[in-house]
Amino acid sequence: MRWLNRRSRHLAALAAAVLTLPLLPAAASQAAAAPPEPARAPSALIPQPVSQEALKGKGFTLTDRTRIAVLSKDPAAVGVGTYLARQLAPATGLSFPVVTAPRTVKHAVVLDPNGPESLGAEGYTLTSGKNGVVVRAHGAEGLFRGVQTLRQLLPAEVESPTRQTGPWTVAPVRISDAPRYPYRGAMLDVARRFYPVDQVKRFIDQAAAYKINTLHLHLTDDQGWRIAIDEIPNLTKVGASTQSGFTGGQGWFYSAADYKEIVAHAKSRFITVVPEIDGPGHTWSALASVPELNCDDRARPPYSGFDVGVSLYCLKDERHTAETSRFLSTVIKAVAELSPGPYIHLGGDETPDATPEQYAAYVEAATSEATARNKTVMGWHQLGQATIPAGSIMQYWGEEEDRQSIGTAKETETVRFVRNGAAQGARFVMSPSDHAYTDMKYDVSTPYGLSWSGYVPVRKSYEWDPETSTAKPDGTGSIVPAGQIAGVEAALWADRAYEGSHALPTPATRWPEPSAYTDYMSFPRLPALAEVGWTPQADRDWSSFRQRLAQHGPRWTAAGIGYHPAPGVPWPGKVKVVEGAHTVETGGKALDNPGGSTSAGTAMVMWAPNRGGNQTWTFTRRSEGVYTMANKTSGMCADAGDGSGPAGTAVVQRPCTDAAGQQWRVTALGDEEYSIVSVASGLLLTAVSATDGARVTQQADTGGPLQRWSIE
Ligand code: ACM
Repeated sequence: MRWLNRRSRHLAALAAAVLTLPLLPAAASQAAAAPPEPARAPSALIPQPVSQEALKGKGFTLTDRTRIAVLSKDPAAVGVGTYLARQLAPATGLSFPVVTAPRTVKHAVVLDPNGPESLGAEGYTLTSGKNGVVVRAHGAEGLFRGVQTLRQLLPAEVESPTRQTGPWTVAPVRISDAPRYPYRGAMLDVARRFYPVDQVKRFIDQAAAYKINTLHLHLTDDQGWRIAIDEIPNLTKVGASTQSGFTGGQGWFYSAADYKEIVAHAKSRFITVVPEIDGPGHTWSALASVPELNCDDRARPPYSGFDVGVSLYCLKDERHTAETSRFLSTVIKAVAELSPGPYIHLGGDETPDATPEQYAAYVEAATSEATARNKTVMGWHQLGQATIPAGSIMQYWGEEEDRQSIGTAKETETVRFVRNGAAQGARFVMSPSDHAYTDMKYDVSTPYGLSWSGYVPVRKSYEWDPETSTAKPDGTGSIVPAGQIAGVEAALWADRAYEGSHALPTPATRWPEPSAYTDYMSFPRLPALAEVGWTPQADRDWSSFRQRLAQHGPRWTAAGIGYHPAPGVPWPGKVKVVEGAHTVETGGKALDNPGGSTSAGTAMVMWAPNRGGNQTWTFTRRSEGVYTMANKTSGMCADAGDGSGPAGTAVVQRPCTDAAGQQWRVTALGDEEYSIVSVASGLLLTAVSATDGARVTQQADTGGPLQRWSIE
């Protein structure tokens, strides 16, 4: 579509020239001969709209006279106007009265829900020019999606919670847009780590900004049961008392009122909540709460560990199967009543100890309960091994190994289950773990998360096509026909939501707020996955995306989102290497003179950035691209020795001299990252790990992330 955009811009210019020439008097045609306005930089919109065209002329500037005019009395449409006014108020300091009007008015942001049905539920057009902005859709939901685009057309500071200076100008554009897939989800694992209501609402707002329309709450797992069920108070009294790494809690669950508050907040952002009640595995918290679900009729002690696949309801005999069905009935009825959305997710993953018959019987019991409550069944792709109701949605979470096995004699279980589900007519939500599991580390230096499905750098979260996510690696032989794909979901598990997640936690481990974990793992990957779900495949490419993504860094900073400034993205505001004072960082840690030592020979370490003098290094140019780096606190220079030491020799500080061991060749690697190479040894400045206190050595070039430095 970029090609089309270019062409349509060209055509528009041509048409304007043809139309104006005969009509204009001489004086005006002189004005027309003035140099054309410089081409505007394309807007950094995410997801990339289906088509956008930069228009000539002036943009529209929001002022204290700007109104939001809704061309309808429909409360949902007026609600979008109110939402927009509230969204823009803190940063602009403007109040934006919301008025309803019968037709388009000037100098306003016009929200028109009376657009043609052909726009679909979520499609919209947006046109801006000096007289105002018009967002048109077929109903309130499309308006809401269009309003997200409008936010991104304003300066980044508009996302700030405090008053900023502006001006608040929207460039003149014409956008026409609609999603590729109807289901674009984000999952939060609130079971292993409990997210208080406010943090869930914050996540909803973040996801809504990228046109996500579904919030999947993984409400139950071994480590916790997070939804109150009136008839079974133990589920929250006992089952909610643990999280991964935590015991003895109270209130780590959503009451009916809490849950309703989440659902209502999501609804106001046109996001549907999908509750997940996982089973028959991942059920320790239920087994700890309800004795009769265990084969020995004894409640398990609550579980706060880190293993998975450790539990199963007792499915071995009729009495216990009946107990499980009774339990399911109570739970699913309660959850269905609390959830206005069309779906209930029944899990179904990781049940190594269930026989196929036991599994099938469980799925039959659970799905019939869900359909009796008029809910569409969702489940992980394992559900495909059983008979599932017509119209069910399976969530695919396989990976490269599964794709490689397709069509071979050794097809994986995943492939078999997916094939079986597809043959039953299931629709699919694609969450391939090697692209869409946002709990996977970006790279070795990521403090949180796991890597069992490999590292998932931003580019990998972006560069995949749902249509080939269950195909062979060459893209052929897709098991799920394109027409059965409902959409895409980013899945943020919370197995390892603590710093230093390469190992199990210790008492010294730092556990950030769940929202800090969410910010870091989801940004920038959630926007990447949002674009996978929204934008036509042919219109997506990494080189455009990374440029647009970079422009969102300042938006997140303004909004207070602690995002990961991932390598490979040219984030703005990162200075080029110049002489002067800098911090020198890799893996989220800064090159540090420990304790501000003033002793010669002290070995440098890595430490959390603190902007202190002991982390400030003055670069002095010695020759082209070669610098000394003097520590501000000690005045001494980073020193690699005389170059005779082996790889792994520590970098220390010594009084500054002319020695080669203190000269460092700084080479841009692109993306605002640099290698820093000792002129004496030819080895690269290397952090041994991305933990506080990690040693700093010199190593041969491995291409590893802890040899890529930012110099800020
Ligand atoms: C899963 O990752 N166990 C669905």
